[in-house]
Amino acid sequence: MSTASAERATSVLMRPLSLGSLLLPNRIVMAPMTREHSPDGIPGDDVARYYGRRAAGGVGLIITEGTYVGHESAGNSARVPCFHGAEALAGWSAVADEVHRAGGRIVPQLWHTGMDRAVGAPPVPDAPRIGPSGVPLDDSEPGVTMTQSDIDNVIAAFATAAAEAEAIGFDGVEIHGAHGYLVDQFLWSHTNRRTDTYGGDTASRARFAAEIVEACREAVSPDFPILFRLSQWKMQHFQARIAETPQELEVILGRLAEAGADVFHCSTRRFHLPEFEGSDLNLAGWARKLSGRPSISVGSVGFDNEFLQSFQGQQGKVTGIDGLLDRMERDEFDLVAVGRGLLANPDWTAKVLNDRWDELRPFHVGLLGTLH
Ligand SMILES: Cc1cc2nc3c(=O)[nH]c(=O)nc-3n(C[C@H](O)[C@H](O)[C@H](O)COP(=O)(O)O)c2cc1C
Repeated sequence: MSTASAERATSVLMRPLSLGSLLLPNRIVMAPMTREHSPDGIPGDDVARYYGRRAAGGVGLIITEGTYVGHESAGNSARVPCFHGAEALAGWSAVADEVHRAGGRIVPQLWHTGMDRAVGAPPVPDAPRIGPSGVPLDDSEPGVTMTQSDIDNVIAAFATAAAEAEAIGFDGVEIHGAHGYLVDQFLWSHTNRRTDTYGGDTASRARFAAEIVEACREAVSPDFPILFRLSQWKMQHFQARIAETPQELEVILGRLAEAGADVFHCSTRRFHLPEFEGSDLNLAGWARKLSGRPSISVGSVGFDNEFLQSFQGQQGKVTGIDGLLDRMERDEFDLVAVGRGLLANPDWTAKVLNDRWDELRPFHVGLLGTLH
């Protein structure tokens, strides 16, 4: 295995970074990962301990699993945590406390699944399945096209969740604008066929996302960090793109930055692949260059396969991180998110920074059954 020396890893990854009111001690972020261990949408003590262990293991910032905003059509599972309602918020408050006690920092990932929701799925089985144009992501039945009042209600739900996050002690929020869920369904021309001001060209398709960011920004303190996660690929469509060119990406990021997004979290399945022809920059590299805002990269760090291959049962091999450090030394992007590595190894950070490579556990789907 090619490994980075502990000294090099430390000098690159242990640089602190300020994001508004938040001072991160290092550049390693826990990627958001749905765990479905929150019965009735309420995160319990086991969830708090799970995140607390990652904080104790030295990760600089934790982004929680996707958590549903308070809109009837947001969810698709009764075991995914909600970010509304007294009980769920009390559970989340305990999670934030546990992470802070362990010396960590944490932001919730605010989520609306939109057309990804199965008809009749909990937590609100009767709720309609909604999207910008009701276009399904697979070969299922069309859903309901959102009215202006649906749009306003969803924007308000995100803003309320952001305000709650600050009130119960989180260190920022991340808006889930990636992977083909509701916010991304507006960004993507395939699912957004609207002819009003929310559809059409790239800037118009970014309007819904920008209005969510703007409403969240107004609902929280001026220096409370707002992260925005975006992706080209969708869960059901790996070749999908919301931006064919750097110019289109610049339009989207420009609208979001103007609305108040502080950090762009650029989800790719393999961080080492270039995003546009003619440059080696990955999506996070482009986001930083085009927006001037800090960016987070992610995807197959420390593994030789990507996470959806893992879901299909392929056990990836643990690899070194020299290629990652090369990019971070050049300041291509500011932070790196690690998913499976941290799921399998709560102390991934400590192991990597101390050359304990042989102790890194590989990821396999069996790990999803329990919260350890
Ligand atoms: C079990 C699991 C659940 C995930 N759930 C989410 C999620 O809730 N929100 C999200 O934006 N990405 C989610 N992802 C994607 C990860 O955030 C990350 O982008 C992906 O795992 C690639 O990073 P890795 O190669 O380091 O695992 C999930 C990934 C895994 C493995």
